[in-house]
Amino acid sequence: MKRREFVKLSGAAAASIAIIPPVLQSCADNMNMNMNMGSNAVPVKEGAFTTPLTFPSVMTSNFSMQAKGNTVSLLNAQSTSVLGYTDGILGPTIKVDNGSDVSIAFQNQLSEETNVHWHGLLVPANMDGHPKDVINSGSSFNFNLPLSQRAGTYWYHPHPHGKTARQVFMGLAGFFIVNDSEEQSLNLPSGDQELLLVIQDKRIKNGQLNYSPSMDEVMTGYTGEYVLVNGRNAPFHNVSTRYYRLRILNGSTARVYNIAFSDNQSFEVIGTDGGLLAQPVTVNSLLIGPGERADILVSFKSFSVGKEVYLISRTFNGGAQGRQEFKIMKFVVNQQASDSFTVPNQLSSIQPIAPASASKTRIMKIKGMMEGMNMGSMGSGMHTINDKVYDLDRIDETVQAGATEIWEFDNSDGDEIHPMHIHGVQFQVLQRTGGRGSLIATEQGWKDTVLVMPREKVTVIMTFPQEKGVFVFHCHNLEHEDDGMMLNYEVV
Ligand code: C2O
Ligand code: CU
Ligand code: CU
Repeated sequence: MKRREFVKLSGAAAASIAIIPPVLQSCADNMNMNMNMGSNAVPVKEGAFTTPLTFPSVMTSNFSMQAKGNTVSLLNAQSTSVLGYTDGILGPTIKVDNGSDVSIAFQNQLSEETNVHWHGLLVPANMDGHPKDVINSGSSFNFNLPLSQRAGTYWYHPHPHGKTARQVFMGLAGFFIVNDSEEQSLNLPSGDQELLLVIQDKRIKNGQLNYSPSMDEVMTGYTGEYVLVNGRNAPFHNVSTRYYRLRILNGSTARVYNIAFSDNQSFEVIGTDGGLLAQPVTVNSLLIGPGERADILVSFKSFSVGKEVYLISRTFNGGAQGRQEFKIMKFVVNQQASDSFTVPNQLSSIQPIAPASASKTRIMKIKGMMEGMNMGSMGSGMHTINDKVYDLDRIDETVQAGATEIWEFDNSDGDEIHPMHIHGVQFQVLQRTGGRGSLIATEQGWKDTVLVMPREKVTVIMTFPQEKGVFVFHCHNLEHEDDGMMLNYEVV
């Protein structure tokens, strides 16, 4: 719809109410009120922190996995319908060594199509879970993943276009951990002291997960009032007086967290999406957007038994988000232990890619609902990249295999938050102008997803692998992605 026609429609909204679908009506009402931001993130309701944290099972080599419907108890032991890649919510943690070939026999036991995308892994295009490669209800597919990349905290989730957000929200997601000898040699906290935490917010109505974004919520992203860690609302975990390695994934569809501890203690950021940083960075809080990972070290060494510390999200500047501080989970120090671990000064080596080595710079103008209104049609396709809404079959960018390129994500006119993600490659963040105006700790390493806040322009540099084929890049606000904020690029 053209803006002109839309304005006419808004003006006539009251008269034509019967013929305007409800979603358009709510949009029109909102537009009549003002041309500004829509709703804010829903306030988080903190729980009691009396439920023990649990961890998914671990898979180490070849195995089979199903996407299916399950029933779990969420919030006061109600029976809640969820989706999972095994029993319960979420999926197994896959832990493998770099260099191995992982094969996964996947079955779709859902009543609709799905597929699996290995977020951050550099796998062949036909194994990447491109939205055109869907697996029908009742069908199977064998994923063969030849791993050749750095150790890191990767993850997996569905990617069928228009259905990704709902399927992830309902529970389909899991960790994919790659180990290598470089990381091994650091002797980072492991075993009981290495905790994988996926943070996700859910809206829950009458004991059931409720995914029903309004038009406002397609714009801001769908947020929930309950924050879950590993599928548990408001959990606690017992720790001893030692260092812990927390590998955190923001698996929410749209909510951004500003991770911190309730006693305001500092912590060390040691890794990000694509593995370890070169050196640890000490911070007191850390912003993590949907799809991003943070690998941190936190010390409980100075605490006495009985001490309780919360992992919290602090307020931040983020348009419709960041206005509330809330607790995410509780750590309870329940045991005295000695720990001789010291944080290494050097974690890994990262060769910066020289901007001069880039053969091309591509500008990606990302537009939210307000900026894109005259471009897309109402009801869907309100979020665009270079004024385009996703088309499965259209190739939007063509990249030479092995080429080094700079991509600029330009949200300088925008009021929405866009965590931008590129499949099939790991990049380095060169700079951020506007908005926060600088890079944060996790942006000093290899990344596959970068948070572009309102008014920001972020440039990244990457060398594409030799692997040819079609991959996508998109906003990892999954409401925006499903709305079409995604393009195809082909490596030739
Ligand atoms: Cu985690 Cu294409 O996404
Ligand atoms: Cu991905
Ligand atoms: Cu977005």
